[in-house]
Amino acid sequence: MTEQSKVRAGIYGVGSAVPEGVLSNRDLEKMVETSDEWIVTRTGIKERRIAAAHENASDYAAAAAKRALARAGVDPGDLDLLIVATLTPDVFCPPTACILQHKIGATRAAAFDLAAACSGFVYGLDVAARGIEAGAYRHVLVIGVDLLSRVADYTDRSTCVLFGDGAGAAVLGPVERGGVLSTYLGADGSSGDKLTVPVSRNGSSASFIKMEGSEVFKFAVRVMPEAALEALRRAGVAAEDVGLFIPHQANIRIIDAAAKRLGLTEDRVFRNVERYGNTSAASIPIALDEAITAGRVQDGDIIVLVGFGGGLTWAAGVVEWTGERRARA
Ligand code: ACO
Repeated sequence: MTEQSKVRAGIYGVGSAVPEGVLSNRDLEKMVETSDEWIVTRTGIKERRIAAAHENASDYAAAAAKRALARAGVDPGDLDLLIVATLTPDVFCPPTACILQHKIGATRAAAFDLAAACSGFVYGLDVAARGIEAGAYRHVLVIGVDLLSRVADYTDRSTCVLFGDGAGAAVLGPVERGGVLSTYLGADGSSGDKLTVPVSRNGSSASFIKMEGSEVFKFAVRVMPEAALEALRRAGVAAEDVGLFIPHQANIRIIDAAAKRLGLTEDRVFRNVERYGNTSAASIPIALDEAITAGRVQDGDIIVLVGFGGGLTWAAGVVEWTGERRARA
């Protein structure tokens, strides 16, 4: 295959869905010994969204998926593969991807869950892009969804203030140029104990998130710019040509430190952590959706997506935004 005829994968449409319920810093002040001032100064978070007790990850995944499919102009029946990145599945089995497949009527699609914590959406983007480039799939739906409120310990002030719930989705398909230019994934299982969600001994239920916050902070500040630079190198794109940097929304200080290392001015960095907190696998696609809706991404712009999280894992992707541009069938 010549370089000109190489099929690339582009993002046809994105969508997101977040709960209506808002948990503010003031609300948290009544639950644990903390303050709005501490949370804002240390994390940049002002509020986060919390799902209702009867709702599940697949409900938000389905809402985000329907929006992404409508924007992409792709019928659910034309999806070949559905990937749900999550660490808070509805149940251990069936996979949330299969529950979602049924909810949206993606009857032809293979479906599986992907567990890479907060890096999951970009891991999914990589799998989707490689499958499309290889000609194995035409239309792939990648979802990042997490209801971290289900595994947050609301008696532990050092973690519960950080997390929120939501979902984001992207429909990928072939494009003639642009699209996903590169990805770079990594993991360090030797540091896995720094961020865990243990399972009870009999395996019947998940437990609470436990995290060595300052260790994860140091890891994130190092790995975010490193991963972004490696993905840019693989794409053959210079950091100064980045139109918008869309990092995992975990902590404003981590985002700012990474942006500084990359030499990016404030207008080229997307932030919404103040409104949602850390929504894990959902954070990057929610941010991408909001960036597009706000008109901050134009056709031909280079965007860099970077995640990090439990595993420990990291993942970066460089995308030349293709808007509605499609490959001929
Ligand atoms: N309110 C008030 N005080 C608090 C709170 C709180 N909510 N939480 C912790 N503190 C206290 C601590 O007890 C400590 O007090 P001490 O000095 O008396 O012991 C003090 O504040 C400082 O604590 P540090 O942990 O040093 O605070 P730090 O500046 O490191 O910020 C934070 C903590 C926000 C958790 C930071 O370490 C962080 O963001 N880490 C990264 C977390 C992350 O991004 N995880 C992403 C992956 S999540 C995933 O994959 C699901």
